[in-house]
Amino acid sequence: MRVAILSSEAVPFAKTGGLADVAGALPKALREHGVDASLVLPLYEQIDRKQLREQIIDNLAVEWGDGGSTRARVWYSEAAGAPTFLIDAPEYFQRNSIYGFRDDHERFAFFCRASLALFKRLGTPPEMVHLNDWHSGFAAVELRVRRWSDPFFSRTRTLLSIHNLAYQGTFDPAELPRMGFGSHERRDPFIANGAASALKAGLISSDALSTVSRRYAQEIQTAEHGHGLEWILRARRDRLVGITNGVDYDIWNPATDKHLAAHYNADDLTGKRICKLDLLRSFGLPENLERPIIATVSRLTSQKGYDLIKEAAGKMLATGAYFIALGSGAKEYEDFLQALRGSAPGQVGVFVGFNDPLAHKIEAGADIFLMPSLYEPCGLNQMYSTRYGTVPVVRATGGLDDTVQDFDRVSGTGNGFKFQRYDAGSMLEKVYEALYCYAEPEVWKKIQLNGMSVDNSWRAAAEKYINLYRAVMNM
Ligand code: ADP
Ligand code: GLC
Repeated sequence: MRVAILSSEAVPFAKTGGLADVAGALPKALREHGVDASLVLPLYEQIDRKQLREQIIDNLAVEWGDGGSTRARVWYSEAAGAPTFLIDAPEYFQRNSIYGFRDDHERFAFFCRASLALFKRLGTPPEMVHLNDWHSGFAAVELRVRRWSDPFFSRTRTLLSIHNLAYQGTFDPAELPRMGFGSHERRDPFIANGAASALKAGLISSDALSTVSRRYAQEIQTAEHGHGLEWILRARRDRLVGITNGVDYDIWNPATDKHLAAHYNADDLTGKRICKLDLLRSFGLPENLERPIIATVSRLTSQKGYDLIKEAAGKMLATGAYFIALGSGAKEYEDFLQALRGSAPGQVGVFVGFNDPLAHKIEAGADIFLMPSLYEPCGLNQMYSTRYGTVPVVRATGGLDDTVQDFDRVSGTGNGFKFQRYDAGSMLEKVYEALYCYAEPEVWKKIQLNGMSVDNSWRAAAEKYINLYRAVMNM
């Protein structure tokens, strides 16, 4: 089975969030099951050129503009453990960040068209093109049209995975012809409330849809979480499945993690104390190993529940716990974190920015990982936390609800703490409960071990994708 995965980010090349972790791990996991999986990605400026093996195409003709064409180069790499093709188009991708430009829709439309041109140049059509989020919605439309007009793609099927429905890639429909989507059959799928939406186009045009947890697959069919697209998801619910992301234990494993001061596993947790000390030192905090560390690593957006953290921060600090935060994003939350540190410099550690090694150190060194998300399609940090013996406190939404079980003192079951209502009081109750358990080492160790023994590896998720690909190809 030949599968091509299109993504706007992937580890180890370029990352802003969990999509990169998923796109970096899935092709490798599929290959371990004998699938001929490859990855296609834009060649951003920030990608370390040492990861590239060679330039394999220097004049890829990409259909572009209204009937015209333009050229791109393609590089090849195996740094993700699977064949990866990187589209080199400096006009679109030699910029100082991955997203955030006025022409993002045009950049990713070009990426999609270049990917299709690449498949033709490579000579064998993929049987399955696995698309991710709005960035690849353009490819769903084009492949749907080509199925009838271009024999090369007549047997190619598409799956669109939704990692976050809130980001829809909307733009002015007047720009569609310039990107080669001027004809009715190409234009119409994009139109939503008078705007053009790349995500909506992808949801309409893909053969099948998936999202990254079962719970989120249900939630997005409701007005509360559907971001205006719930009607499509309800209409296509027989084509929509939830597959929970896996964890790449080659990268996120306390027994081998190259960023840690010491290694440990479920049989011997002594290394975790060394990691805790190392973490306190990296933030210049007093070295009191008995005090619990509550930590968070995330994009700073309202999605991640930062409004609750803001509201509850004073009371959390009043418990005497350390609070450590790593993140970047909205200025409002960055300012809040800096001010919080200023108010309690011996108790709060803050790093504003993106820092992968520090994210690993926090997973290992913290005691409690806080993830009070407003919504969470899957969430990876809670799964990393359980493997690192760091107990997650989460809100019961999306993938957090599917992967975290509330600890029950009587039966001794559960790998974390989970609250339902999106309010600061409910979150604090669970933080207090967690701290109460932390004070009893035997109870705490039980929760840690419950989490560390869970197997969230990609093996099972990859199998589910393969079954889904098969079902779609036989449709
Ligand atoms: P999302 O994709 O919504 O951001 P996930 O929990 O799925 O949330 O994945 C987030 C990923 O990004 C994790 O690997 C996390 O460690 C990483 N991450 C988020 N913010 C930062 C940051 N500021 N520095 C380093 N890694 C970060
Ligand atoms: C998105 C979601 C996150 C998910 C990730 C990978 O960024 O916000 O919940 O884990 O994609 O699927």
